Amino acid sequence: MTYGLFIAIEGGEGAGKSTHSKRLAEYLESLGHEVVLTREPGGTPTAEKIRNILLDPSITDMPDYTEALLFAASRADHAANLIRPALERGATVICDRYIDSSVAYQGASRGLGVEKIRELSLWATGNLIPDFTIYLDVPHEAGEQRMEGTDRMEIQSRDFHESVHQAFRDIAAASPHPNIVIDATVPKDEVATQVRNAIDGVLASR
Ligand code: TYD
Repeated sequence: MTYGLFIAIEGGEGAGKSTHSKRLAEYLESLGHEVVLTREPGGTPTAEKIRNILLDPSITDMPDYTEALLFAASRADHAANLIRPALERGATVICDRYIDSSVAYQGASRGLGVEKIRELSLWATGNLIPDFTIYLDVPHEAGEQRMEGTDRMEIQSRDFHESVHQAFRDIAAASPHPNIVIDATVPKDEVATQVRNAIDGVLASR
C-alpha cells in the first residue's frame, strides 16, 4: 500500500474553504480514492473539545500564548489520531486549515513569530506536512460578507483579519512546498475547476 496524499486548504474567513474541500472530496471519491475530509481546529473528539474552548466568544481574556498552544495541542491530537493513520493506510486526506493557519493567525497577526509558531506545530505533529496546499485568496472585505458566525476568532478586528489575509499571501509566496494560490473572488465553479486541475496535476506527478 502506498502512502496517502495529504492536501491542506488554507485562507482567511469566508474564502469558501469548506465548500471547496467538500467538492474536492467528492471529485476524488469519484476517481476511486478513499477520502478523509477533516478540519482544524478539530477532527478528533479531543481536538473538537479544544476547538470549543478556542472559539468560545465568552472567553475574553485568553492570552495569545494560550491560544497558540491550544491550536498546536488540537493539531497534535488530530495528526496522531486521524491524519497520520489515514495516510498510512493509503487514504487521501483533505484538511480544511492546518499549520499555515497557525503561522498566519498566531505567528503573523498575533505577532508571536512565524518561525516560532511553525516550529511549534512541526514539533507537535512530528513534522507531518501536507503534500500540497491550496490557498484560497479573498480580500477581507469580500470574505467578511460570507462570514457566518460570531466565534472568538471571527470577532477580532478588521485590521486583524486584513493582516491574516496578507500573511497567507506572504506564506504562500515564501513556501518551499508545492502549493497553488487561487483567486477565490471568481464564481465558485471556476474556483472548483482550478482546484481540480491543480490536484489532477499533483496526481499525474505521483
Ligand atoms: P472555523 O469556524 O473553522 O473558521 P473557518 O470557517 O473560517 O475555517 O474557525 C476556525 C477559526 O480559528 C478561524 O477564525 C481561524 C482560526 N484558526 C487559527 O487562528 N489558528 C489555527 O491554527 C487554525 C487551524 C484556525
